Amino acid sequence: MTKSEELVARRNAIVPEGMGMFSPLTIVSGNGARITDADGKEYIDFAGGIGVLNGGHCPDVVVEAIIEQSKKLIHACFPVAIYEPYVKLCEELAALFPHGKNTKVMLLSTGAEAVENAVKIARQATGRQGIICFTGGFHGRTLLGMTLTSKVGYKIGCGPFAPEVYRIPFPDFYQRNDGLTMEAFINRELEAFESYLHNMVDASQVAAVILELVQGEGGFIVAPKRYVQELQKICHSKGILLIVDEVQTGFGRTGKWAAYQHYDIVPDISTWAKSMGSGMPIGAVIGRAEVMDKTTKGTLGGTYPGNPIACAASLATIALMKKIDVAKKGEQVGKTVKDYFDELKKDCAAIGEVRGLGAMVAFELVKNNDPRQPDTDLCKKLMQACAQNGLLIISAGVSSNVIRVLSPLVIEPADLMKGLKIIRTELLKLVTKN
Ligand SMILES: Cc1ncc(COP(=O)(O)O)c(C=O)c1O
Repeated sequence: MTKSEELVARRNAIVPEGMGMFSPLTIVSGNGARITDADGKEYIDFAGGIGVLNGGHCPDVVVEAIIEQSKKLIHACFPVAIYEPYVKLCEELAALFPHGKNTKVMLLSTGAEAVENAVKIARQATGRQGIICFTGGFHGRTLLGMTLTSKVGYKIGCGPFAPEVYRIPFPDFYQRNDGLTMEAFINRELEAFESYLHNMVDASQVAAVILELVQGEGGFIVAPKRYVQELQKICHSKGILLIVDEVQTGFGRTGKWAAYQHYDIVPDISTWAKSMGSGMPIGAVIGRAEVMDKTTKGTLGGTYPGNPIACAASLATIALMKKIDVAKKGEQVGKTVKDYFDELKKDCAAIGEVRGLGAMVAFELVKNNDPRQPDTDLCKKLMQACAQNGLLIISAGVSSNVIRVLSPLVIEPADLMKGLKIIRTELLKLVTKN
């Protein structure tokens, strides 16, 4: 038995069934975009801990910041005694992502917590309860996060879910175009949105619309720009806030610091986590001050959110990202991957669509070139074949038939190309076998 097999057996004996497991891969250490398993085998990492490692595994400056901060203060609880790293990180985030004239920021430990708090803030600010979310959306695994999440496989047996959550179809052109042009499709979706505000929930009852501009777990589906711009206009005309969930898209992943910067909009509230701390548990809610301040004292808080070490790690991560120009890196990695997948699609009929924004690039595997026939089995086999050949890659999509790339953005060009070639070789082998 290898050390990895032994660890998997121990895991299976002690960890409950419900815990997801993409592959039986073990990991002992990581550096840049490479990881090493329990048997000393090296892999190229195209998963980045699900989009957490834009700055790479264990960057020296982040490790240093963690060590230095932990010598001074590990915990205080921000509502009990305030400390500078928390305040400094909020200031830094407000400067990077201004939301209107005055911006306010609160810190959390996870993406789901950020979403929970964004909703609490939106409800207090508007005095309304309704939240509109989208099919294919993913917002975390807390009760409200799970309620807002669309993938039913993540929710089986976990209800009852939170009330006052309404789900509408995501503007997924590939799946739902019905032969329309993009412009006609956008018009249809916007008309449908306005009708939902009459026949699903009255606009006067809706606090916020929450969406991912590029759906992460949903399979890297990019919302059309004009749809989002018009959606925000409709929302504002009816006193509804727009919450943009940047947990997976943020910090350079889409080729800009924020995905919303591609859309020429500024959300009322946005949620962040993942890559902002290089893997330390840190998240944030950023919003217009007049919205964020319409909250009653004591309704926001927690013991651990904005922990000093996580703040120090995040500040060091952001400084590193500025130094390496993370947005440019996202653009470059994205172009390489997109071009490569576009070529691969020409040789492989199983790829229904290649899509994405910046370095959030994916392809969807379908049968008979039909968007409605997902090839989940092929996707699973491809992930396994890649792992056997030294590449860690994960799937996405409500039917788990989308291969997505979330590699560290600091990946060496040679490693990026090597990983892409593994995908090509293994996919072509699998489709010729079928
Ligand atoms: C868009 C989005 N929102 C929220 C979350 C939840 O974040 P966390 O797992 O840190 O709670 C995720 C996680 O994948 C996500 O992709």
